[in-house]
Amino acid sequence: MTDRLTGKTALVTGAGSGIGRQVAERFAREGARVAFTDRDLAAAQDAASAFPTSVAVELDIADEASVAAAFEGLAVDGFDVDVVVANAGVQLFGQDAKIADLDLDVWRRTIDINLTGAFLTVKYAVRAMLGRGGSIILTGSPTALNGEGADFTAYSASKAGMHGLTRTVAAAYAAEGIRVNTVAPGYTETPLVSAISGDPESRAAIVSRIPLGRPGTPADVEGIMVYLASDEATFATGSTFRVDGGMTTL
Ligand SMILES: NC(=O)c1ccc[n+]([C@@H]2O[C@H](COP(=O)([O-])OP(=O)(O)OC[C@H]3O[C@@H](n4cnc5c(N)ncnc54)[C@H](O)[C@@H]3O)[C@@H](O)[C@H]2O)c1
Repeated sequence: MTDRLTGKTALVTGAGSGIGRQVAERFAREGARVAFTDRDLAAAQDAASAFPTSVAVELDIADEASVAAAFEGLAVDGFDVDVVVANAGVQLFGQDAKIADLDLDVWRRTIDINLTGAFLTVKYAVRAMLGRGGSIILTGSPTALNGEGADFTAYSASKAGMHGLTRTVAAAYAAEGIRVNTVAPGYTETPLVSAISGDPESRAAIVSRIPLGRPGTPADVEGIMVYLASDEATFATGSTFRVDGGMTTL
């Protein structure tokens, strides 16, 4: 514990697994009060249980009523957020495809969760921060920045939308003291990418394209999140911070 977030209240979506869980736990170890939110409440409760000042809340980012209720319920309990990490997301491996083969339903499910979910999370985060300021961090992806993953049409488009949302909202609310940034992790081994990590050939192929020569882990992503959440980052807004082992330099 280094107390870099003492006095802050944070909300993380998708905090039941992978990157979100790691970041929410690190925020709590840095002294923040953290709302661990996920559509999988049991997973959020499991993650939050180690931290006495933290809470677990069921929140489906694709459902406006659910997002509104979660933010309102937390505010009623005195949980006024200073930091929101819009992290929850899906990647529909085996269904997402090159555009000529992509079903509208797969496109819609991906956009509904990743992009509309980010929109709803950021909308209620901004409302909660108006008059007080705060830091909003979105989890983007190299697929939004490069021609990564030919089969990831819907996922790449959803993430590119999140990067655009970051810049627009950052500019619109800078005067209110609300900062908005995107962290773009590279290939990071979590349950999300088990289709790659569980297949030696696919895994070797993706690792061969990472100059630092190894896959990322959720622990590789938490440091930049702490920085952006903290008052050390008061001049950082509207930007993308890549943590990808150099993948996007290629
Ligand atoms: N793992 C990677 O390689 C990688 C790379 C770049 C970006 N990302 C992004 O990082 C974020 C976290 O991914 P991860 O790898 O930790 O995945 P993960 O599958 O381990 O965790 C995702 C979490 O989000 C939750 N979730 C899914 N849909 C939700 C919804 N509608 N409402 C609320 N919660 C929901 C899941 O229950 C799960 O707990 C995602 O946005 C993902 O696109 C991941």
